[in-house]
Amino acid sequence: MEQHQLAKIDNAVLGWLEEARENVYINLQSALMVSEKANRKDLVTNVDKSNEQYFMRKIHALDPEAQILGEEGFGDAIKNMQGHVWFVDPIDGTLNFVKQHDDFAIMLALYVDGVPTMGWIMDVDKNLTYHGGPNYGVFRNSEKLIIPENLPLSEGLIELSGNRLVHHQFRFEELAEASLGVRVIGSAGMSFIKVIEGKAIAYASKMKPWDFAAAKVLLETLKMPITTIDGKEIDMLSSNTVLGATPAAHSDIVRIELA
Ligand code: IPD
Ligand code: CA
Ligand code: CA
Ligand code: CA
Repeated sequence: MEQHQLAKIDNAVLGWLEEARENVYINLQSALMVSEKANRKDLVTNVDKSNEQYFMRKIHALDPEAQILGEEGFGDAIKNMQGHVWFVDPIDGTLNFVKQHDDFAIMLALYVDGVPTMGWIMDVDKNLTYHGGPNYGVFRNSEKLIIPENLPLSEGLIELSGNRLVHHQFRFEELAEASLGVRVIGSAGMSFIKVIEGKAIAYASKMKPWDFAAAKVLLETLKMPITTIDGKEIDMLSSNTVLGATPAAHSDIVRIELA
């Protein structure tokens, strides 16, 4: 896609994100409607649902042929990555949203014939949106971001999923020990932002496509690898344990996982 087409899409999505953010704060003025999905830790609110429905309407109007994969089920059942595929996480970090009212994100991504094309991660509380793609660059609001320093695992903070850590899955304790320190935020989007900004050297967690689709676009644009935890290519249509990191930390972590 050409630059002017990407810019048009980017401007449209930045406008939707502003509206979705307004929807968040209007709804936070009264009690949230919270319900459980698979278990008591897996929550969904009226805002997750209304944001997702809003994005569905907007994407359909902008890009009528597109397929859309959304966490809360208002999109399509996608079987392949042909054509335009959008990923929507209407509130990422729903537990943080419910309990803290901060450290949550809104994420969207566009892939064209399987190629990561544009990604958006909004830190809602700070009103900062990380957006862009390989033919566009990566921006924090209007400020262009540079490629973070290529630090190894031993010289940086690592973001990990709390669930994997407490259940002793993979070698997350070893990774934490080998790093300078471990951080657990509770929102994939917020953790990926730390890596995008060079504040953390890696993030690893078990995730669904809407959790990592935007980050894959943004990290790859910044020359940072994002793969499965054992260094393989990610399947965009299933759940994966995903690692996004600086190139040096990525190889350190994959080496530990494969040892
Ligand atoms: C979750 C959060 C969490 C991560 C989970 C995600 P949700 O997203 O990003 O930090 O560990 O894997 O499912 O359900 O709050 O959008
Ligand atoms: Ca969820
Ligand atoms: Ca979500
Ligand atoms: Ca999520």
